[in-house]
Amino acid sequence: MKKEVLLMVGPTTVPERVLQAMNRKSISHRSKEYCDMHQRIREGLKKIFRTQNEVFILTSSGTGAMEAALQNCFSVGDEVVVPVLGTFSEQFASMAEAHKLKVIRVEVDLGEAADVDKVMEHVTENTKGLFVVHNESSTGVTNDLKAFGKALEGSDTLLITDSVSGAGGLEIRMDEWNIDIVLSSSQKALMAPAGLAFISLSDKAWKATESSNLPKFYFDLNKSRKFQEINQTPNTPAVYNMFAVEEALNIIFEEGLDNVYKRHMENSQQVIEGIRKLGYDIFPKDDKYASRTLTAVYAPGKAKDIVKGLAEQGIIVNAGLPPIADDVFRVGTMGYVYKEDIDAFLEALSKIN
Ligand SMILES: Cc1ncc(COP(=O)(O)O)c(C=O)c1O
Repeated sequence: MKKEVLLMVGPTTVPERVLQAMNRKSISHRSKEYCDMHQRIREGLKKIFRTQNEVFILTSSGTGAMEAALQNCFSVGDEVVVPVLGTFSEQFASMAEAHKLKVIRVEVDLGEAADVDKVMEHVTENTKGLFVVHNESSTGVTNDLKAFGKALEGSDTLLITDSVSGAGGLEIRMDEWNIDIVLSSSQKALMAPAGLAFISLSDKAWKATESSNLPKFYFDLNKSRKFQEINQTPNTPAVYNMFAVEEALNIIFEEGLDNVYKRHMENSQQVIEGIRKLGYDIFPKDDKYASRTLTAVYAPGKAKDIVKGLAEQGIIVNAGLPPIADDVFRVGTMGYVYKEDIDAFLEALSKIN
């Protein structure tokens, strides 16, 4: 059988070394061996988020960490502003409404990034939180988090970011960029199976937990905080996924985080230039905010056939998401992806008309 090339937007390829790390005996999540590993992983994640704040490990997909952010830092009726630029930023807005927050959506044209000035027009002294997705995986657009952090400097509003498809592939600097909550998950640029999510809170966000009145139990972060002191979690964590994440972090730090970012830049650039040579274009309206962990390729009316045609040649990419599912397909360059994988993708694409 021909070897498949996975260029998915998550879950992504799990490197052989990471798979091997899971091929081992089980350990108790209350054992010293577990606690030592927990400590190493939390330290590693702090480097990925570039923060001095603690990073908490949740057994859930990324959406669980989004719920944790809401449930712990907000109260019924709190006003939050959400620039909506695609499926995942919309999901956060809907989730906040489900938790009875008052959501002000700032609609952004699909394919555009959130404009800081336009969004800030909606942020007032009543705004408890501004939620900005780092990398909108449905449209392949990256927001300028640094600019949002700067715009909110000195204000009481919390800046929350979903970096599910960013962290580990795109630069993020939680402390320097003044971000109050960063969350992510294991199955994208962090090269591990789905099942773990990560969340970090600034002092300002911890302060907000003191007055939050939303119901919380599984994702009660103050409970997690107590257990983190002994390098444990309140409930049974996905221990095998922890084995995986530890090894994936080892691989990332061996390559060097800056080199990893550079590889993501180069890979996505090769995709962008390659698809343009073949007569396609990217969906984002401007290269300057085109995602560097995935490329949304604009192929009006042909996207689904292309995904199928690539799969027949052993190249696995992802379909687009509504409402652009017929016109866009997505090529993941996050995590364990190298030039030869992109060469194979472009060659296969060139054979499809
Ligand atoms: C930007 C973004 N946010 C949130 C999610 C949801 O994450 P999960 O599927 O791990 O719950 C995804 C998943 O693709 C995503 O890309």
